[in-house]
Amino acid sequence: MKALVLAGGAGTRLRPITHTSAKQLVPVANKPILYYGLEAMVDAGITEIGIIVGDTRVEVEAAIGNGAAFGASVSYIPQTAPLGLAHCVLIADEFLGDDDFVMYLGDNLLEQDLRSFVDAFERARSSPQPPNAQILLKRVADPHRFGVATLDDDGHAVQLVEKPEVPPSDLALVGVYLFDRTIHDAVRAIRPSARGELEITDAIQWLISNGYRVRTELLTGWWIDTGKLTPLLEANRLLLDKLEPRIDGDVDADSVIDGKVVIEQGAEIRGSTIRGPVAIGADTVVVDSFVGPYSAIGANCHVEGSEIEHSVVMNDSIVTGIARLEDSLIGREAVVSRSRRRPRALRLMVGDHCQVDVE
Ligand code: DAU
Repeated sequence: MKALVLAGGAGTRLRPITHTSAKQLVPVANKPILYYGLEAMVDAGITEIGIIVGDTRVEVEAAIGNGAAFGASVSYIPQTAPLGLAHCVLIADEFLGDDDFVMYLGDNLLEQDLRSFVDAFERARSSPQPPNAQILLKRVADPHRFGVATLDDDGHAVQLVEKPEVPPSDLALVGVYLFDRTIHDAVRAIRPSARGELEITDAIQWLISNGYRVRTELLTGWWIDTGKLTPLLEANRLLLDKLEPRIDGDVDADSVIDGKVVIEQGAEIRGSTIRGPVAIGADTVVVDSFVGPYSAIGANCHVEGSEIEHSVVMNDSIVTGIARLEDSLIGREAVVSRSRRRPRALRLMVGDHCQVDVE
C-alpha cells in the first residue's frame, strides 16, 4: 500500500502565517503538523509516500527531504494550483499506479494511530464483498464545515456532501481515506464543484452511485483539522499534554519549573517560571518571564520580561516586555515588543518576519 499526502493548497484561514509558509509545517508542541502524519503512516507500515506540493514546495521539501529521517521513501508531486483533493489523485496516478493507497490531508491531526484503520481495510479487501474505499468519520458539533456522510442501517455510506448548509447528519469526513484503483475512474468522471474544486467527496459519491462499496469506520479519539487558529491551539494543547517531561537545557537557581515541561538542549531559563505543559525549543533563552500552560516556544527564540500562556511561538522569534500574551500564534523570525509594561492581555496572530511594537 502507498500513501498520498496532501501538502499543497492555499491556507487562507491561517493568514498571515501562511502568506510565507506552509500551513502543514506550522508546529504543534514544537513539531510540524505534517511530521505527525508521516510518522503515523510509517507506524502503519506504509513507507512509499507521495507528497502533493504547491507554492510552498521548497519549504516542504526542505523539511521532509527524501523521507529517510522518517524511515520512508518520499517523492514529490507538484500541483500548479489548489484545484481540489480529487485533482491531487488525478495528478498522482503515475505514482499510485494500480496500488491501494491511503490519502492523508497534511493539515489533519488524529489521536488514533492509522494501523487499525489500514488493517481493517486490508482484512475487508480479502472478504467475499471487498470494499473499494474506506472513509473515516467522526461525530462533530459543526458538520457544515466538513464533508458529511449519511449511512444506511448497515453502516455503509449512501450519501456524501461537501460542506452542506443543512447537514444531513453529524458525521464529518476525517482527512484520511483508503482507496483501491477504482478511485482513478471516479476522479476522471466528476466535474468541478461550485467552489471550482474537484472534490474527493464527489468522487466517493460517484463510487457509491456506480455500485462500488464504501466502507466506513467511526473515529473515537480526537481529530483536528488544524487549518484555523483555534483548532491549532487546541491541537497544541492536546499534544503538549502527551509530552514526556525532559530538561536538557540550563535552568538557573532563580527559576521554577513546574509540571510537564520539555526544555531542549542549549535552552537557558533565567529568573523565570515555566509552568507546564510547556515545550521550549533548543537554544531558546527565557529571562525574567512566566511561560504558562499550553505554550510551545520554538527553537532559538528570546523571551524576556514577558508572560506567555496558551500560545505557539515559532522558531527564531523575540517576545520582550509583553505583560501577557495569550491564545496567540507568533510566526518565525517575528519580533513582538513593548517599551513599557502594561497589564493588558494581548491575543495576536503575527506572520513570519513581522515586527510588532505595542505602545
Ligand atoms: O479536514 C477534513 C476535511 O478536509 C473534509 O471533511 C472535507 O470533506 C475535505 O474536503 C477537506 O476540506 P478542507 O476544506 O478542510 O480542505 P483543505 O482545502 O483545507 O485541504 C486539505 C489539505 O489538502 C490541506 O493540507 C491542503 C491540501 N490541498 C488542498 C487542495 C484543495 C492540496 O494539497 N491541494 C488542493 O488542491
